[in-house]
Amino acid sequence: MSRILTGIQSTNVPHLGNILGAILPGIELSKNPANEAFFFIADLHSLTTVQDPDLLRENTYATAAAWLALGFDTEKGFFYRQSDIPEVTELTWFLTCFFPYSRLALAHSFKDKSDRLDQVSSGLFFYPLLMAADILMYDAHVVPVGKDQLQHLEFTRDVAERINARFGADTFVVPVASVQSDTMIVPGIKKDEQGNFVKMSKSYGNTINIFEDDKALRKRVNSIQTDGFGMDEAKNPDTCVVYALHNMVASAEKTAALREAYLAPGMGYGYAKEQLYNALIERFGEAREKYHFYMGNQKAIDLKLQEGAEKAGTIAYEVLSRVRAKLGYKKLAYFGGDI
Ligand code: TRP
Repeated sequence: MSRILTGIQSTNVPHLGNILGAILPGIELSKNPANEAFFFIADLHSLTTVQDPDLLRENTYATAAAWLALGFDTEKGFFYRQSDIPEVTELTWFLTCFFPYSRLALAHSFKDKSDRLDQVSSGLFFYPLLMAADILMYDAHVVPVGKDQLQHLEFTRDVAERINARFGADTFVVPVASVQSDTMIVPGIKKDEQGNFVKMSKSYGNTINIFEDDKALRKRVNSIQTDGFGMDEAKNPDTCVVYALHNMVASAEKTAALREAYLAPGMGYGYAKEQLYNALIERFGEAREKYHFYMGNQKAIDLKLQEGAEKAGTIAYEVLSRVRAKLGYKKLAYFGGDI
């Protein structure tokens, strides 16, 4: 049994890039009977950027609703909110005491902002070790992440190995990263200043939110940038984001038919966009309905997260007890532990 764990940022409503690049591949992994999946909402990490309580809460619900709507089986897997398991912050402290300050100062997440140190909180500085605690807390074996998170995984392995060298190899399970392949990188809908399409990301403002209502979604699809070829000219599907996105959501037959249309004169981009819109509705119609059901019934989300917290909490308790004993602290005594 391989324990797969990943944290989900909750700084926005998950967009098409998050869904195709992380959520659906994660759900796929969780269906493999040889895997045990831990997916949690990293709402403590969110506090480094989102400090409005209503927004924080709303983003957490939106993220949870998306995972539930897209079909994550919370009975089989573990689905919880990071902040519901207080053990993780205690473990973070333990890790900080064994990780060199100078190495943490090399984290990209921190270094990229070091020219604006007055805006960097100590929380942002310790962000990688909270992430390490997320992983080590549950004895995870494999951590699926995007390339931008690889350094954090190296830190995680490093701190686990340092502590294991000192207190025994049975203190922490040393995890491995599983990097998202380039084929799962979803392009955004606008070109950057250099005229290239870049990864769909909230920070570039180039996302598609599939949970928006029909009209807004259609408008968003229509706003995808295309090149200037006219109706009576043949077009290149391989440089067109409308086609690339269609390819990622529609059936192979439909994409092949759209390809033909690009290659012959007579097709306008309006038609291609219509095909993409239809493909989105077809592929995500059911998920859209479920998402809105959950957003209208946040109690139902709370209930799932509560169940998840109970399941995850049992493991966090055991692991933290083990680590405490290794470091010379008393084991945790609730749940009737030894005194
Ligand atoms: N930092 C990760 C990101 O920005 C989110 C995250 C938090 C995470 N804790 C984690 C990912 C633990 C994997 C494992 O995407």
